Amino acid sequence: MDLIQFFGRFHVLVLHLPIGILLMAAVLELYALFFNKQRTKTLQTIWLWGALSACGAALLGYLLSLGGGYNADAVFVHKAFAFAVIGCAFICWFYFCLLSRISSKFAPFITTILCFGQLFLLFSTGHYGANMTHGSTYLFDYAPDPVRKLAGLEAHPTPREKVTDLAQAHVYLDLIGPVLEQKCVACHNDDKSKGKLNLTRLDSLFKGGQSGPAVVAGDLNASELYRRITLDSHDKKFMPAGGKPPLSDIQVKTLAWWIEAGLPQDKLLGELELDDTARSILATQLGLQAAKGSWPLAKTEPLSQTLADELTAAGFVVKQISQDVAYIDLDYSVSRQAFTDQALEVLLKAKDHVAWLNLANSQVSDPQLAALSQLTHLIKLRLEKNPITSQGINHLAGLDQLTYLNLYKTKVDDQVFSALQQLPALKNLYLTETLVSEQALTQWQQKNKTSSLQVIAANYDLMGQNNEK
Ligand code: HEC
Repeated sequence: MDLIQFFGRFHVLVLHLPIGILLMAAVLELYALFFNKQRTKTLQTIWLWGALSACGAALLGYLLSLGGGYNADAVFVHKAFAFAVIGCAFICWFYFCLLSRISSKFAPFITTILCFGQLFLLFSTGHYGANMTHGSTYLFDYAPDPVRKLAGLEAHPTPREKVTDLAQAHVYLDLIGPVLEQKCVACHNDDKSKGKLNLTRLDSLFKGGQSGPAVVAGDLNASELYRRITLDSHDKKFMPAGGKPPLSDIQVKTLAWWIEAGLPQDKLLGELELDDTARSILATQLGLQAAKGSWPLAKTEPLSQTLADELTAAGFVVKQISQDVAYIDLDYSVSRQAFTDQALEVLLKAKDHVAWLNLANSQVSDPQLAALSQLTHLIKLRLEKNPITSQGINHLAGLDQLTYLNLYKTKVDDQVFSALQQLPALKNLYLTETLVSEQALTQWQQKNKTSSLQVIAANYDLMGQNNEK
């Protein structure tokens, strides 16, 4: 079966040969006829090649169709036209071979009919084939409405307005439908229903596929759809198939919620009872609440190239943190120079963009730290191996996005904790080889027991556990 599919898929490649060859043959015949040009003998051979390549494409197409998943009527029509193409190609070959010997007064007429007929058959076969792979509305999916009307299609549905209130979200139209539309319907639709499953509408979704219902109300284990999306992504049965982008964690959870909630359909979320977990999942899926771990800062304009160049000239390595966010990661530690006030000045020019900053081992001084408090978007700050003290850290108060602070091998002492108290977002703190006393550290840890702050201080025995790293 695998081998059949392997060859079958070459259909989409090979089918271009007969299209190209037969098109060329027909056009050249017509050209010779209408413009009274000498017709070359090679044309006979071209017709033969066209006919043979059409046979090859048809054979591969047959193998492809054995894999199933295509609408039976559509396959029938496509096959019928394909046979007509092959038939017509052989007739042309035969006829034009003869033509060079006999010549009758009907010859121009027959040539015209055969060539236009072949062109018509080629286009029709291609058209029905393409409909099967891309869906019958593929060509007009993005057409303006007047053009769609001409093609006999409905105008584009007006997009649903973005939900702003969880209670007003429609279970199918806002939550379930969009997920399936985005990740599944390319292979599970009216024209192409792989596994005999159509996911474009609720009734067909409930009907299920060749192995029965896709979803069972209240029962995740019995729901084939859920099983498929939660398999190991290397599993042959994993959905979406074909290495297509998998569902996000939140999308999977949304579908799981829907199944467990008994597959509500025509309901608004406000009409259902939701616990906090469900609320949080659905709000995230609807974009009403930021997902965990998502970028915490507001959108900003990208950094200008001139400023980026200036930063580089001042000794920073400048990197954009990700394609999606315009914030930057600056590294001065690689310059192996002392952090000068000139460098500081340039740094402050980019203060709206700096989210990560590495000033490790750069002889940063306490007064310079005072200036850093202007970098209000800082998330990550590396200050290890600098002669800075707790007084310097005091200046950082107010950096309320700062989640990572590295003070390894600095001169901070027990006073540092009052400064740290003013960094509400802090999650990772490095205090190894500082002047902090073990006692003060333990005390502070006790006080912050419930927070998610993680302290790395390898030379201390933290609360009985050795944090060596
Ligand atoms: C690239 C094409 C492709 C995409 C995209 C795709 N599927 Fe499939 N799907 C298939 C094929 C092929 C089969 C039949 C082979 C099989 O059962 O694994 C199938 C079968 C299934 C079946 C089993 C049907 C039955 O009754 O046997 C389920 C359930 C399913 N898909 C769900 C999904 C879901 C949910 C998504 C979206 C997350 C999805 N599929 C996306 C190709 C696809």
